[in-house]
This record gives sequence, structure tokens and C-alpha cells, in this order.
Amino acid sequence: MARFSGRKVLITGAGSGIGREMTRLFLEEGASVIGADLDPSNVPAGAHQFKVDTSSEDDVAQLFTAARDTLGGVDILCNNAGIGSTTSVLDATVAEWDRVFAVNVRGTFLCTKYALPYMLDQKAGVIVNTASVAGMIGLADRASYAASKGAVIALTKQVAVQWAKDGIRCNCVCPGTVDSPWVGRLLEQSDDPQRRRAELVARQPLGRLAQPVEIAKAAVYLASDDAAFVTGTEFVIDGGILAG
Ligand SMILES: NC(=O)c1ccc[n+]([C@@H]2O[C@H](COP(=O)([O-])OP(=O)(O)OC[C@H]3O[C@@H](n4cnc5c(N)ncnc54)[C@H](O)[C@@H]3O)[C@@H](O)[C@H]2O)c1
Repeated sequence: MARFSGRKVLITGAGSGIGREMTRLFLEEGASVIGADLDPSNVPAGAHQFKVDTSSEDDVAQLFTAARDTLGGVDILCNNAGIGSTTSVLDATVAEWDRVFAVNVRGTFLCTKYALPYMLDQKAGVIVNTASVAGMIGLADRASYAASKGAVIALTKQVAVQWAKDGIRCNCVCPGTVDSPWVGRLLEQSDDPQRRRAELVARQPLGRLAQPVEIAKAAVYLASDDAAFVTGTEFVIDGGILAG
């Protein structure tokens, strides 16, 4: 039988990159999936598409009402929606800082808050957050992004410990640089995209960028019963950056 047969999965940021691959993999393994995104048009077929801005409590409340109505609840939540920024503390504006925190941190908090009642009711549930190695080490020009992902890592551990006795696990994945549309946009902003790409590759000892599916596979593992004894952890998938 498929590993996720009968499981109800809600994934944010499901319309692109890593979240799109997560959605595909969960569907392949038999799950019922809601793929939520600011732009859900590219959520893989087979998933229920839902338009959401995860930084808005009204939107998130509606998303979880839809999850109840279409799936009958939520067993697995992947808080994957996120936005980047490429500024230092000096360059960052308050508006940019607040928007990055609103999506990356408040969005993760809100979806977790609305998912927990379903999980507590059934004394079972799994949350997988998409953090980043940027939340673990200092990377130049990532001030608000790094701080927001550090907050996601801290929240992951807090939620893991708070609800462990209720059958709920919470972990995060910490990718290095992943060849998703996100990085495409980052390179487009550069004066010399080829050189910038080479720099990003050189930062990773394995000598390439990750493919989105390589991160999605780790999230699927953490969501599965194979990871039944894994909670509160940062699963680093960075081609060796942290080892250097
Ligand atoms: N690409 C990388 O190098 C990398 C590295 C480490 C961590 N991450 C993290 O991985 C996650 C996914 O990134 P990706 O690389 O697949 O990027 P992506 O831009 O390809 O996909 C992100 C998706 O999130 C959606 N989204 C953005 N803001 C949203 C909001 N407020 N509400 C709902 N949906 C929203 C976007 O529409 C998009 O579909 C992010 O949390 C990102 O921080 C990415």
C-alpha cells in the first residue's frame, strides 16, 4: 500500500519549486493533498488548489475551513511558502523586513495554529517547515531572510517539544541553494547572472545546486512513519555547506 494512503496533507507554496515537488511526491504516494499558494495555477493536477496569502489570518482561516470541507482535516502540514530578500541590515527597509517576517514567520505560525486543533483531536500529526541554512550560518546580504529562517528553526523546536506527548512531530528542512524559480529570479537581478550562479555553486562542496525534488524527498521522509522518532530537528540538505 502507498505510504500516505488515506493521509490528508496541506502544503503551502505548492505552486512552484520545492512545494510543487512535495505535492507531486505526496500525490504519488497516495495522499489527498491541498496545494495552497498565492498563485495556485501551477499546483500539480490531482491536488486541490487553493489561493492563499499565508501572512493573512483571514486567508489561513479560510484555507483550513477548505481543508476540513474537502479533506476532512489535516494530518500533515508542510509550511513551505516563503519569500527571500537580498539585503544587509543597512540596505533593508522596515517594509521589506516586515514583509519577509510576515510571510516566513507569521505564515508558519498561523498555519501551525490552525492545523494543531485537528492534530490534537486525533492525537497525531506531522508538521514540516521549510527553513534554510541561512537560518543557521551567516550569509552575506540575507539579513531579514536569515533572521526569519532562524525564527522558523526556533519555532520548529518549540512546537516539537510542546506537543510531543500529544503525538505531534515537528521538524524542518534546511536547504542550501536550490535550483528553483526563486534562484532564477535571484540571478535575473544580478549584473552577471553566470558569475553569480558560479558563486552559488562554488559555495556548495558537492559543486552544484540542489534540485527541488531533493529537498521535497527529505520533507516526505520527515512526514512519514519512517521518521516516527524524529522531532525538533533541522534536516540539513546543503551539499556540504555547513561541513566546510
Ligand atoms: N531556492 C532556494 O535556494 C531555497 C533555499 C533554502 C530555503 N528555501 C525555502 O524553500 C521554500 C520554497 O522556495 P522555492 O525555492 O521553492 O521558491 P519558489 O519561489 O519557487 O516557490 C515559493 C512559492 O511560495 C509561494 N508564496 C510566496 N509567498 C506566499 C504567501 N504569502 N502565501 C502563499 N504562498 C506564497 C510563491 O507563490 C511560490 O509559488 C521557501 O520557504 C524558501 O525560503 C529555498
